[in-house]
Amino acid sequence: MSASSIRFLMCAPDHYDVDYVINPWMEGNIHKSSRDRAVEQWQQLFCVLSEEATVDLVKPQMGVPDMVFTANAGLVLGKTAVLSRFYHKERQGEEPFFQQWFEENGFRVHVLPKDLPFEGAGDALLDREGRWLWAGYGFRSELDSHPYLAKWLDIEVLSLRLMDERFYHLDTCFCPLTDGYLLYYPPAFDAYSNRLIEMRVPPSKRIAVGESDAVNFACNAVNIDRLVVMNKATDDLKERLAEVGFRVRETPLTEFLKAGGAAKCLTLRVTEPILPVPHAIATVESRTIRLEGHLLDSGLINRALDFIVEGGGSFQVLNFSLGEQRQSTSSAEVRVTAPSHEVMESIMSQLIDMGAMGLPQEVCDCQLETTTLPGVAPDDFYVTTIYPTEIRVNDQWVRVEHQRMDGAIVVSPTPEGAIAQCKLLRDLQLNDQVVVGVEGIRTVRKTESREQRNAQEFSFMGSGVSSERRVELVVEQIAWDLRRIRDQSGKVVVVSGPVAIHTGGGEHLAKLIREGYVQALLGGNAIAVHDIEQALMGTSLGMDMKRGVSVRGGHRHHLKAINIIRRCGNIHKAVEQGVLTNGIFYECVQKGVPFSLAGSIRDDGPLPDTKMDLIEAQSDYSRLIQGADMILMLSSMLHSIGVGNMTPAGVKMVCVDINPAVVTKLSDRGSVESVGVVTDVGLFLSLLVQQLGKLTSPYRIAQTV
Ligand code: ARG
Repeated sequence: MSASSIRFLMCAPDHYDVDYVINPWMEGNIHKSSRDRAVEQWQQLFCVLSEEATVDLVKPQMGVPDMVFTANAGLVLGKTAVLSRFYHKERQGEEPFFQQWFEENGFRVHVLPKDLPFEGAGDALLDREGRWLWAGYGFRSELDSHPYLAKWLDIEVLSLRLMDERFYHLDTCFCPLTDGYLLYYPPAFDAYSNRLIEMRVPPSKRIAVGESDAVNFACNAVNIDRLVVMNKATDDLKERLAEVGFRVRETPLTEFLKAGGAAKCLTLRVTEPILPVPHAIATVESRTIRLEGHLLDSGLINRALDFIVEGGGSFQVLNFSLGEQRQSTSSAEVRVTAPSHEVMESIMSQLIDMGAMGLPQEVCDCQLETTTLPGVAPDDFYVTTIYPTEIRVNDQWVRVEHQRMDGAIVVSPTPEGAIAQCKLLRDLQLNDQVVVGVEGIRTVRKTESREQRNAQEFSFMGSGVSSERRVELVVEQIAWDLRRIRDQSGKVVVVSGPVAIHTGGGEHLAKLIREGYVQALLGGNAIAVHDIEQALMGTSLGMDMKRGVSVRGGHRHHLKAINIIRRCGNIHKAVEQGVLTNGIFYECVQKGVPFSLAGSIRDDGPLPDTKMDLIEAQSDYSRLIQGADMILMLSSMLHSIGVGNMTPAGVKMVCVDINPAVVTKLSDRGSVESVGVVTDVGLFLSLLVQQLGKLTSPYRIAQTV
């Protein structure tokens, strides 16, 4: 195309000013720009462009000061224009004037559905070779507009997500140049978008600018053949552009920077030739999900929408019906859009974990893929959570058995229908049918009642009550639960670290076991070693537990304890031989309470009972927690997390640790089932035993009433 046949549309700054704030550049700049200087700078740009091309003008209008930024009029390709739909009402008044101009100049104008913002060439830039269209979203344009662009302009659309509000339009940080070069500011985009850019533009053609050029709007450039017109560039950038054959022409546009625009924003190229290349694809996908529950009270809807946006998608709430009574639930239908299949899958899997369902008319069977190696799942396998899960097989929902977190779902046909089970990766066999993707999977979340939720917040983070009093209150609740579970022959599992012993909790835990409150004990080598050291020698890691001072030579005590048990054969034998006569493990043996000790790299000894084969230890743990009603986790981060991973939702968990971070980590099962208590574990156990003592009569009364 000869230079003079290239045309740009501009709009003189007769009514230009900063009248409102719709981007960060405008903040603090209201009425701070000089009209005279703006006119002068605009004239200068007009002259520069007129040397190389023809500049058409659209008549400026009162009341729409940003109309100078004609890049936002619409998107042009060939004789087709897609009219902008401005996100902010402040600019919506420009739409009819731009529409009129397009129509009078022979363009076929497409108008997007209302409520679907798209800001024209500000957010959509053609590859200069015409191979595809780069389209931005995240601030002004909606991802859902991209499929329309693909369809109307018959071109492949590559969606890029903007992350930095200073670079709210794609053309503020991204400029395709002649010959496939690209001038851009990578930090303005999310990781997925950067990856997409890198896949399409070879390294030798990518010209990444630094922040100093970016904030001078160096990427907001007008490119005509080998000329690049911009507000300002560093010498370094000019050199780099020169090396690849581009000439930079700087023309100051500081008055327009105050409104968040520069050279490119002030122009719209209206001669965009259609090049003969393959067409219309938009990889954009969308799906509709349904959420139910106390969506507002529990914050579920916010979390879900945040997930969608943080995961690189966008959403539209199609309808929301608010539960009107305190206890009634709400429901929402949300349309989720993602720039690609890959992104959609990752967003969907998170939404499924939050309890989102597909629309009944849209659900289909889950997808299965056969394993080709034992112990290895297909790449795209669905990773399970602690929540009860159902999968769709032959148009039926099937409940997954052995629910646990971080497993794969294996489906096997039986004469009575398909069965589905959670399996760990290492347990997968050759030719297992594994659920992949996100189709036909739902998790069943019980609706949190508002009362329960409040109770939990009260016991964990409630304010207004002194912290000791708060611990006491939680202990009262737990004691009550323990008593109830014991009287109903339920199952309580204790997971404990050695700190329970060092902090003087040993005797209390021993008492709980003796009185039948504990049905299984899980820990590592250390808790047993220190309990036994204390039972045999009265010290824990060499500290005298009665006097609280260290004993001479005491640092060897725990090794002596290990040695004694090794001589006996194991803990059970030490009890039988009358060597071990008190303590936690003594009580376990006496009461027939099973325990499992999982080893680690730092273990001394270990005790013969400690399982150094961790796979064996994991399955032993998982066997012992089957059927648990409550799990008490006493200051052991590792063993507790291990247990948390294998426990399905619905089991009450109490986590006690002096370190709030551990408590938060463990209590964060997104449900009411866990209670965290930040306190010294020895103190906690002593309070608990005291409380259980007090409880006897009131509980009996409650029972008989
Ligand atoms: N003040 C205008 C706005 O915020 C500036 C538009 C700049 N145009 C552009 N294509 N980046 O909408």
